[in-house]
Amino acid sequence: ARGTTGGLDLAGRHVVVSAGGTREYLDPVRFLGNRSSGLQGYALARAAAARGAEVTLVAANVALPDPAGVKVVRVETTVQLRDEVVAAAAAADAVVMAAAPADFRPTDPSGTKIKKAADGSAPAITLAQNPDILHEISTQRARAGQVIVGFAAETGDDTGSVLDLGRAKLARKGCDLLVVNDVSGGAVFGSPENEAVILGADGAAVEVARGSKSALAHVIWDEVTRRLPSG
Ligand code: CTP
Ligand code: CA
Repeated sequence: ARGTTGGLDLAGRHVVVSAGGTREYLDPVRFLGNRSSGLQGYALARAAAARGAEVTLVAANVALPDPAGVKVVRVETTVQLRDEVVAAAAAADAVVMAAAPADFRPTDPSGTKIKKAADGSAPAITLAQNPDILHEISTQRARAGQVIVGFAAETGDDTGSVLDLGRAKLARKGCDLLVVNDVSGGAVFGSPENEAVILGADGAAVEVARGSKSALAHVIWDEVTRRLPSG
């Protein structure tokens, strides 16, 4: 039974959700960031708690209050997010990576505020690739039967459609489910609504019509629940 019918189908389960967007500092006051609001991750955490789960929410730079009954761990950078997600995943039945981790970080952040040069020149910023958290936890599972979910916001390009890119990303990441959004218009960011296709490594493709982020969250937990080992 799903949460909307009042069933506590995640009772006795521990789930981890990541939310928000990480920041990578150039100096003490400036960062590289992204447009993730954290709304979908928070909706996932609230939905899981409503269905009886013990929830750890790892939140990166989210301007939202802590959901009731949820353990919230706040982080800023992708490396911090990785450390907290890996630690929490050790005891988790399911992990949902709704966060948008920055893919790159400045190689050599300045300890002091960067100043403009008098000659009008601009500094060059060298970047290093961040750890891929979803790939790491999917390929080195902390527990047998753990269900791992990723998100992909795609626009489609000349190499493939949104769904082609989603299938390829699902395979590359090694997770069980990938929630694919078409973000061609940029309309999803900060919006209360979302629409998606949930792709399964088992070949499943579940279309979720445009609706609230809470409604999408419940469909995601439905798909997770049916893949959890009984126990
Ligand atoms: N992800 C992650 N660690 C990263 C980057 C992404 O765990 N360093 C997770 C995201 O939380 C999301 C999924 O991977 O669940 C897909 O994110 P996306 O940015 O689409 O994947 P990338 O591998 O970074 O691919 P791209 O080059 O398209 O950005
Ligand atoms: Ca990325």
